[in-house]
Amino acid sequence: MDYHELIKKAIAVKENAYVPYSHFRVGAALLTQSGKVFTGCNVENASYSPTICAESTAIVKAVSEGEREFSAIAVVTDTEDFASPCGVCRQRIFEFGGDIEVIMANRDGEYKVYKISDLLPEGFNQESLKKG
Ligand code: THU
Repeated sequence: MDYHELIKKAIAVKENAYVPYSHFRVGAALLTQSGKVFTGCNVENASYSPTICAESTAIVKAVSEGEREFSAIAVVTDTEDFASPCGVCRQRIFEFGGDIEVIMANRDGEYKVYKISDLLPEGFNQESLKKG
């Protein structure tokens, strides 16, 4: 699957974003190493802090379906700026591998690509928990 296809899926799922508070729609499409795609949108809450980001929705959907090996995640918003995952989502992506590519797209479908380890330098992971 090429990045344009993945971005298209992220744009499509963005329509399902539940954003009565921020009105800021985000869509994500997570590509597994086996070629499957899991999409996600942000889901807000009147109590604000329970809000779930689009990237996290996609990750949780995939992992709960038994997937753990990912190659890329595309993220889109309605802005002309490139979508940039929040810190918590960077951590959640990094959990599954420093080489995962993050495709940040804008509303025009333009995009740039980073490795998650570059977006979360010196990130904390399973290795960090090993003692001595
Ligand atoms: N949001 C995401 O879905 N992903 C991010 O990486 C950044 C923020 C959502 C959360 C909230 O619903 C809205 O954008 C405004 O913060």
